[in-house]
Amino acid sequence: MSPAKILLVDDDRNLVELVKLRLDAAGYEVSAALLEEDAVEAAKAQVFDLALVDLQLANQDGISLMEQLHLIIPEMPVIILTAYGSIESAVEAMKRGAYSYITKPFDPRDLLLQIERALENRRLTSEIKLLKGLLQQRYDFANIVARSGKMQRVLEMVSQIAAMDSTVYIQGESGTGKELIARAIHLASHRKNKSFVAINCAALPEPLLESELFGHEKGAFTGAVRSTKGLFTQAHEGTIFLDEVGDIPLSTQTKLLRVLQERSFYPVGSDRLTEVDVRVIVATQKRLEDQVKQGLFREDLFYRIHVIPILLPPLRERKEDIPPLVEHFLKKFSQIMRKEVKGLTPLAIQRLMLHNWPGNVRELENTVEYGVALTQQDVITEDLILRTQEDISEQPLTPLKEAKDAFERNYVIRLLELCEGNVSKAAALAGKYRADFYDLLKKHNISKTSYKKSEPEA
Ligand SMILES: Nc1ncnc2c1ncn2[C@@H]1O[C@H](COP(=O)(O)OP(=O)(O)OP(=O)(O)O)[C@@H](O)[C@H]1O
Ligand SMILES: [Mg+2]
Repeated sequence: MSPAKILLVDDDRNLVELVKLRLDAAGYEVSAALLEEDAVEAAKAQVFDLALVDLQLANQDGISLMEQLHLIIPEMPVIILTAYGSIESAVEAMKRGAYSYITKPFDPRDLLLQIERALENRRLTSEIKLLKGLLQQRYDFANIVARSGKMQRVLEMVSQIAAMDSTVYIQGESGTGKELIARAIHLASHRKNKSFVAINCAALPEPLLESELFGHEKGAFTGAVRSTKGLFTQAHEGTIFLDEVGDIPLSTQTKLLRVLQERSFYPVGSDRLTEVDVRVIVATQKRLEDQVKQGLFREDLFYRIHVIPILLPPLRERKEDIPPLVEHFLKKFSQIMRKEVKGLTPLAIQRLMLHNWPGNVRELENTVEYGVALTQQDVITEDLILRTQEDISEQPLTPLKEAKDAFERNYVIRLLELCEGNVSKAAALAGKYRADFYDLLKKHNISKTSYKKSEPEA
């Protein structure tokens, strides 16, 4: 941490010299001003962490100088130096925003103690502010649906750790939102205006991966006709997201370890050390602990990246998130496809709730997209929700007679829908006599009139 900067304002040259000596010795960086104007100029030129201001200055009282300084550096704590007997003014100074006061002549150790306390207090207030801001941002995760307690805890974690630079380790099955969370962390951090660079480490063969990550010099390998910057350099002052980090080959892991330890690396084929300031977020579907046991992943690297673990639960373990997710995606795709789709039929929703979602949120997103694309009504009906064999076999098996009857009933209804209640047509389509078709209607207690377009049911 850089030394705290202190502005010292007093017209007593001897005292200034004495105090400056003491503070210098204590490791502070002190700028002294004998004149008020000089103090104001200094405050305009740099941000001080604290000011010591004499109450009785040559041309001005210390309180109004303090107020002037606060217009330039609002959060800076000010300690008032006051002569014995002017307690009243000191109290007045406190009311107008001084942090504390100390009476001359003072024990330098007391002064140091007060300075330390003021600086600590300043740090805490700015931290509290930061936390409050982050709490606010929690509700700014507008594109992340999190109704379940599990996901709410994830978001809480995200807002707590976003501001730090520590490495984040996100584990979750495919489609659980690992990249979404990584981006949210970046956007909630002070790096948000710099780049977020993502790479899928499983997608590239070893030599390519290394040069992607760290860049290479011209001629470093066949085909390297130009030198290129690697992703770590592109992410400088921003965030790099290493997806499927478990698939990084062992040789590249060594290089990665070095970057994490020293924030520096050599591009492929280069002997120029490159330094970077990046926040690293990694993601993995597999449990890396197992990879470590099998000797596929360096243990020391594992501990380097496993700093702040975030576990994204599979969708089947937080099904209460399904309805709001459906709503979210419905809105998204209705907008994109310019269709007004209001919702899903209860049966359609039920099918979604019963499904096991091996592809997690991405699979749900695709399902809703398919439904919005194909529906010709303002709702998505259950027939647009494709069921897997597994879903179907989860339904209890019914006796053949019941299954046949159910099929027959549905069949008749669909025929009537198609023919708008015209029994002659429906019977013809089914290859039945009219009289037999009437028997079917009676058997299943179906009224043909409810399928007639204009005639309401009698
Ligand atoms: N909680 C959520 N709220 C809204 N959308 C979500 C949520 N979780 C995931 N998604 C969406 O689901 C899709 C998949 O998410 P993402 O790509 O982040 O998952 P992933 O874990 O990185 O998947 P993979 O392992 O396949 O790379 C994205 O379109 C994402 O926007
Ligand atoms: Mg991903």
